[in-house]
Amino acid sequence: MPAVSDKRLTLNNGTSIPAVGVGCWMGACGEGEHVTNMVKLALDLGYRHIDTAENYGNEQSVGKALRESGVPRHDVFLTTKLDQSDHGRVEQAFETSLTKLGVDHVDLYLMHWPMAYGESGDTLQPEESPTFVETWLEMEQLLADGRAKAIGVSNFNVKTLTKLLAHASVVPAVNQVELHPCLPQHELLNFCNERGILLTAYSPIGKAKFADDPAITAIAAAHGPGVTGARILLSWGVQRGTAVIPKTVHTERLKENLQLVHLSAAEMETLDRFYRRPGSHRSVCGFHSAELGGSCFGWTYEQLGWAMAEGGIHL
Ligand SMILES: NC(=O)c1ccc[n+]([C@@H]2O[C@H](COP(=O)([O-])OP(=O)(O)OC[C@H]3O[C@@H](n4cnc5c(N)ncnc54)[C@H](OP(=O)(O)O)[C@@H]3O)[C@@H](O)[C@H]2O)c1
Repeated sequence: MPAVSDKRLTLNNGTSIPAVGVGCWMGACGEGEHVTNMVKLALDLGYRHIDTAENYGNEQSVGKALRESGVPRHDVFLTTKLDQSDHGRVEQAFETSLTKLGVDHVDLYLMHWPMAYGESGDTLQPEESPTFVETWLEMEQLLADGRAKAIGVSNFNVKTLTKLLAHASVVPAVNQVELHPCLPQHELLNFCNERGILLTAYSPIGKAKFADDPAITAIAAAHGPGVTGARILLSWGVQRGTAVIPKTVHTERLKENLQLVHLSAAEMETLDRFYRRPGSHRSVCGFHSAELGGSCFGWTYEQLGWAMAEGGIHL
């Protein structure tokens, strides 16, 4: 059983990112010992990639864990994200994140969502300033003095990335999106691969909502005792060339999530096609769902580049 805590993927700025990281969305916003404990435990077990966000409200707790872990700062790949309410003040928001984390640089700074919130908290329309292109051009400035080693985006699709790339001087190093066998986003993966943008999979084990599906546990069983559906889902994510950032507060699961297996071509194909089963093509986060009526955080699916089809979603 190979441990892959040391597997890294190369970014388009020449640096590299550990393929498996630990996600710090704890299910609710807020600082606390539970965050610090999870990150310290992860670092102790060998994780060297931490994903947080201003929006998670826990950058101080993550920074505390980093300092208390004893792991040298330069050994850890640290990601945080620009909140939707901060698109008009990138420099200020970035400095606030560095201060909360207690670090002098981050390895990756992501625009969390393409849509911006205005002063009153309402969502601005795509053509209203600050547009995501304007925000991106401001983010590019953060690279100059190394306070951000790389910049990227999150929740972007082919449509929004195409618009961004038409104006960008810097190609995003990463696009972090929801990815798992119910939402594999094959077209987006091809698009990003062709342009040197690494996809990072959030909710990579589908929030554990379908890891016990018989089609997945059958693959797990074929790899021997102790191999779980979660490990199969993470193995698929890394084997298709994406980074994965599962979140768990449990020691045994943190260990398990670092232990990937090699999947055969047939197993990869089964997982690649999993979403085609009736009712399977879905977001586990609820960002794309019929219940939302075709919009997400104030933008229509058309504006986001997401399309809703009868009986499923096409992204
Ligand atoms: N950019 C964005 O907009 C965005 C959006 C969503 C998430 N994210 C990032 O992605 C990270 C991960 O996503 P996520 O938390 O939504 O989903 P996830 O990692 O797919 O699933 C997390 C859930 O699965 C459970 N779990 C973890 N490992 C397990 C295992 N081996 N076996 C069984 N259950 C397991 C966890 O419970 P326990 O903790 O109880 O073990 C938790 O309930 C977040 O923490 C965040 O950093 C980013």
